[in-house]
Amino acid sequence: MSENRIICTCQDVDYNTIKKAIEDGAKTVDDIMEATGAGTVCGGCISEIEEILQEVKK
Ligand code: FES
Repeated sequence: MSENRIICTCQDVDYNTIKKAIEDGAKTVDDIMEATGAGTVCGGCISEIEEILQEVKK
């Protein structure tokens, strides 16, 4: 899957931005929401943020 695909369409946040937030220390979905704004509007992308978190944390 493409690294720059948009995860959060409300806030236009892509995969790389979320990955970078995790690498910069975000440990929970809330941290990522705070750092990137993703997930703060409709919440529809939160499960995907959760998946990326699991994936990148490994
Ligand atoms: S798609 Fe992320 S908050 Fe709506």
